[in-house]
Amino acid sequence: MKVDTLDTVNVYGCRVSSGRTVNYCWIIANRLTNQAVIVDPAWELATIVDTLHKNGLQLKAVLVTHHHHDHIHLADSVSALYGIPAFISKSERDFYSLSEHQFFTFYDSEILSLAGLAIRPILTPGHTAGSTCFLIGEALFTGDTVFNEGCGMCVGRGASPDQLFASLHRLKEEISDSIKVYPGHRYLTELGADWGTLKKNNIYLNIKDKDTFINFRMRAESIKNAFVFI
Ligand SMILES: [Fe+2]
Repeated sequence: MKVDTLDTVNVYGCRVSSGRTVNYCWIIANRLTNQAVIVDPAWELATIVDTLHKNGLQLKAVLVTHHHHDHIHLADSVSALYGIPAFISKSERDFYSLSEHQFFTFYDSEILSLAGLAIRPILTPGHTAGSTCFLIGEALFTGDTVFNEGCGMCVGRGASPDQLFASLHRLKEEISDSIKVYPGHRYLTELGADWGTLKKNNIYLNIKDKDTFINFRMRAESIKNAFVFI
């Protein structure tokens, strides 16, 4: 398990998998209190419970970046097990209904005070209609909006490369270079790189023209590497 000690939070990375699908769910703990929130719990409940227990963490909330199964899979179970709320953006819940889940919702940039942390959800639609990145302490949790080497696919209802271009542009405007970035999947390089490094190395963050971005994002051959997780 990966642990990063930042100024105000510790970030615990749980690599969890189901078959060939590998996700990273992130536990973010307030360094002063050991209260914590979890982003995108999936696949391995025992791994998550064990990580919380071994590190003496008190889980206060579940945060979900978007509704895809590999990000939402254990949201209800973890919420029920610890008796804590689970959150997703209002636009994601409304667009996809999600009525089988008991989600609390938030708006763009509405500060969530959880685990003694001021959590800022940044709405970054594109991969899905209400995809969200969470800015917590010195860290940004991006789900499938942006990875170290790429960005989310834009397939299925509510996905939009046009919106994803705008969302990535917004992140470039609003996120400081020193912020550490924790996506939901890993392809090549270590997660937790800083935003300045992603801005330099991630080709999707370097395409200035919207139409060029859309054509590149939607190219057919990009699908073949999208599920080669490590
Ligand atoms: Fe996704």
